Amino acid sequence: EPPKVLVTNAVVKPEEVFDGKKKVTIFFGTQTGTAEGFAKELVQEGKARYEKAIFKVIDLDDYAADDEEYEEKLKKESLAFFFLATYGDGEPTDNAARFYKWFTEGEERGDWLKNLNYGVFGLGNRQYEHFNKIAKVVDDLVAEQGGKRLVPLGLGDDDQCIEDDFAAWRELVWPELDKLLRDEDDATVNTPYTAAVPEYRVVYHDCPDVSILENGSIRANGHTVYDAQHPCRANVAVKKELHTTASDRSCTHLEFDISGTGLAYETGDHVGVYCDNLIETVEEAERLLDLSPDTYFSIHTDKEDGSPFGGNSLLPPFPPCTLRTALARYADLLSSPKKSALIALAAHASDPSEADRLRQLASPAGKDEYAQWVVASQRSLLEVMAEFPSAKPPLGVFFAAVAPRLQPRFYSISSSPKIAPSRIHVTCALVYEKTPIGRIHKGVCSTWMKNAVPSEESIDSSWAPIFVRQSNFKLPADPKVPIIMIGPGTGLAPFRGFLQERLALLESGAELGPAILFFGCRNRKMDFIYEEELNKYVEAGVISELVIAYSREGPTKEYVQHKMTEKASDIWNMISEGGYLYVCGDAKGMARDVHRTLHTIMQEKGSLDTSKAESMVKNLQTTGRYLRDVW
Ligand code: 2AM
Repeated sequence: EPPKVLVTNAVVKPEEVFDGKKKVTIFFGTQTGTAEGFAKELVQEGKARYEKAIFKVIDLDDYAADDEEYEEKLKKESLAFFFLATYGDGEPTDNAARFYKWFTEGEERGDWLKNLNYGVFGLGNRQYEHFNKIAKVVDDLVAEQGGKRLVPLGLGDDDQCIEDDFAAWRELVWPELDKLLRDEDDATVNTPYTAAVPEYRVVYHDCPDVSILENGSIRANGHTVYDAQHPCRANVAVKKELHTTASDRSCTHLEFDISGTGLAYETGDHVGVYCDNLIETVEEAERLLDLSPDTYFSIHTDKEDGSPFGGNSLLPPFPPCTLRTALARYADLLSSPKKSALIALAAHASDPSEADRLRQLASPAGKDEYAQWVVASQRSLLEVMAEFPSAKPPLGVFFAAVAPRLQPRFYSISSSPKIAPSRIHVTCALVYEKTPIGRIHKGVCSTWMKNAVPSEESIDSSWAPIFVRQSNFKLPADPKVPIIMIGPGTGLAPFRGFLQERLALLESGAELGPAILFFGCRNRKMDFIYEEELNKYVEAGVISELVIAYSREGPTKEYVQHKMTEKASDIWNMISEGGYLYVCGDAKGMARDVHRTLHTIMQEKGSLDTSKAESMVKNLQTTGRYLRDVW
């Protein structure tokens, strides 16, 4: 990354809002809460440092109801910071999507942001192709439109230690804010700041109070629009193993019953699934916390300043429940602990040597040890807690600062509502692997799915809170347009939905254009998922050609991209005829290799030089004819 050149335009003094106080607006685009947490940390420290400033933390979605309002309000900002995460194939988070679309696609606006002093911190992962794309684009565009960049763009890298990246960037922010927000005679200068460990207020209940349970539950139905905050309870109707017994891995086909719920989806959408930790994981946590599983409690934040959850970095509380339920549903117990979690544990370690070691691990001096002992070793929160048995945080601290909230997992829906209107199908590979220090890591949601009890087997079936996330991974409006689908492994999922949709179209009398599907697996006898179905689609004319790459059958590995090279002329012809190309699956390896292969095919078949081929691929992307659903 070349260092960003700071804009040299004179910095404008921030506007005084009232009472001589100046306003600082902190925007966040967050998916799992990290960007939001950083935004709130900045505010906490900012409040301690600057008496004469008012800090506002704002969810980008809540800032404005429409494009005009974005424009109107942003124009009036004079000092703002943006915390922006990049997801998937270089996409903004759900809550930043509307802002991002408006900001990047609007007409020429000139230097309308000339009164704005700003800084951007991005959250991304260097293993992905579009590292921090959203933050980079916003940072550039604000400058282009007249904004004064106070600090270089922060490039947070979640592959390493994003907390360190944020801490380093934050140290660049303070000297700039000192210039803008401090009077010369300000006495608070250089007061050292230590962040307080966030904590919920905990109320213990003697017995379950059903009325608060029902009202406070984020897990209940009754909403007409379902989303991550208002999921829909759905029963598991069907469960099947897709690998044969010859395979040493597992892949689950699951069907959620959505009949009568009002939940709807479209072919190509994603489903978000909340599931529970395994009971063995929960019991280990109970043991480490040294608390009874029946402890019945609720957590509360005492709001300040009108921001949704108060001015600290807490997530919204969950409804009253037992400790067993709270640990099963709401606590991420198997990810590696953040440094802030180690600090919170240290604050509650009764053995001073344990507290010291935890603080050391979280300190700048412990950087390498943290990277090795925690991150590279994939030590889970529970494993770390087991090493520091005297650290017994109270529940208010545990749920606020030690264990992050268990996140929903997203899956590409593998059905079409045209064929399965009352079902959402999921195709999920089991995550089951040995960590470097020998723990068997069982993926939370894939393990839950593998163990789920379907209603076709028992009336006491498994269920999960789920919701649908729209995607732009859609078939062309005209079914005659040729399509190329590339989806090895569970990357097949959305294409199974596409094929169901094409079957429905065919049955309703539509004429279908050519469709070629590239699928890859290890061995036909082990992991060729949905083999029979796919063959039927070929017979019915839903797919014109099914091309399979077996990676572990012959002496050499054959991958989908090798098969693409063999079919280069067909691919070139289909694209030349206005065809669409779809890729689904692993982003770090497969999608990158497929992208390179596509580039080579364009170059060779079109007799183009590298840059022409590149702009042709770019063009396919910008016109929505090269779509990727990758993770
Ligand atoms: P492998 O496990 O034998 O390496 C589905 O997971 C299929 O994708 C498997 O056959 C897997 O092969 C293959 N695969 C792994 N890495 C890939 C890559 N970079 N490009 C394409 N396919 C890949």
